[in-house]
Amino acid sequence: MQLSLAALASLLTASGLVSALPLERRGTKMMTSKTRLNAAGAAYFITNEPGENMVIAASINSDGTLNLDRAVAAGGRGSHGITDPVGPDALFSQGAIKASAKGQVLATVNSGSNTISLFSIDPKTPTNIQPLGDPVSSEGEFPMSLAFNSDGSRLCVLNGGTVNGVNCYTVDKKNGLTAMPNTLRSLGLNQTTPATGPAGSTSHIIFSEDGKQLMASVKGVPPNPGMIAVWDVADDGSLSADFKAVAPPSGGLLPFSMTVIPGKNAVLSTDPGLGFDVFDFSSGNSSSAVKIDGQNATCWSSFSTKTGNFYLTDIGTAIVTEVNVDDNLKASIVKQYPQTKGAATIDNDIATVNGKDMMYVLAPGTQTVEVLSLDAPGNAKHVQSLSIAGPAKAAGVTTNTNNLQGMTVFIRQ
Ligand SMILES: *[C@@H]1O[C@H](CO)[C@@H](O)[C@H](O)[C@H]1NC(C)=O
Ligand SMILES: *[C@@H]1O[C@H](CO)[C@@H](O)[C@H](O)[C@H]1NC(C)=O
Ligand SMILES: *[C@@H]1O[C@H](CO)[C@@H](O)[C@H](O)[C@H]1NC(C)=O
Repeated sequence: MQLSLAALASLLTASGLVSALPLERRGTKMMTSKTRLNAAGAAYFITNEPGENMVIAASINSDGTLNLDRAVAAGGRGSHGITDPVGPDALFSQGAIKASAKGQVLATVNSGSNTISLFSIDPKTPTNIQPLGDPVSSEGEFPMSLAFNSDGSRLCVLNGGTVNGVNCYTVDKKNGLTAMPNTLRSLGLNQTTPATGPAGSTSHIIFSEDGKQLMASVKGVPPNPGMIAVWDVADDGSLSADFKAVAPPSGGLLPFSMTVIPGKNAVLSTDPGLGFDVFDFSSGNSSSAVKIDGQNATCWSSFSTKTGNFYLTDIGTAIVTEVNVDDNLKASIVKQYPQTKGAATIDNDIATVNGKDMMYVLAPGTQTVEVLSLDAPGNAKHVQSLSIAGPAKAAGVTTNTNNLQGMTVFIRQ
């Protein structure tokens, strides 16, 4: 049944389900008749389609479950890295789309256009996102990961193609993104556009906890073990001319995601070669490469402030692994949570919803988002499998198992 949006809006308004439905803008496709006002937040990911990249936005209900709301044109094209065989995780990355709760903004890469798009987030209806300025050049090729600073006033991108490295922008709520002087820095990798990987490709960009360093992870090409490249960030946001290359601890091979270990000058980095690496950047000597038995490719990670543990996803086994890192940076596996076989669990993020942490995992193999409730350390429960394919198709949005990418959450403050 084909119902006009205006008819739908008046129907829903009459039913009291919503007070008003925003009018369909060019490039926005509604995926539900149940857009609720005052959602707790939203989860976003991208279609990363070579024809047109779209942001898919799902509202987070008060119990932490999701409601697929809308798809919004990202303003550019996606792409797929060169790999054999071709599979999910087109960008070999974490952080292809990022929200800043403080800044109330959302940014995505358009890897096939070498651009970045910025959106404002309506805090009352967080799936209602509006373009902020025009997409800007990433000043490199194959942009695949983004990082906001802590207050959302700056954004940095990691480019992974022939022209690779980082670049940063100021974030203005009226004008959008403006490239900052002295932040365009090369990694000098011998890469292609689109990037060839996963071995030898760039992975993820983050700020250190104190904001004084910018880090980019690069997977190795065995026997070369890859690195985390670290730039110093000056008070004006500019970057040191050169980066310091920090090799993984012995046994580490393919640094992928980086998740800050709170209160320590350290990060947990997933490593599809064996499990994960702990990088200790302090003068201590507590780095370690940790094996996850039976793992296939552990590539994505997030931290839960409520349980104090890290949650890692493996695209091959579709298992979520919970990891504890103690005060001495000694890591141990707490528990593993198998998801649907073949789900190809990739990007994930964690949000605190009404006092409880919820984990959102993009599963392109099943074209779903898997939702886990992190009730306590060692006690995560699967609570929802949100179908993407059906609603996307009904709304005329192209999705593809091999292209879907990214996961980031926004919670109303
Ligand atoms: C870059 O990589 C290509 C493909 O592996 C190789 O043929 C070429 O020699 C490399 N160039 C340099 C400068 O290392
Ligand atoms: C760090 O610890 C390892 C293993 O305990 C040891 O082999 C190495 O010499 C130490 N390095 C430093 C710089 O203390
Ligand atoms: C991961 O799974 C793929 C597909 O099943 C397989 O080809 C590959 O060898 C596995 N890799 C590891 C490290 O187990």
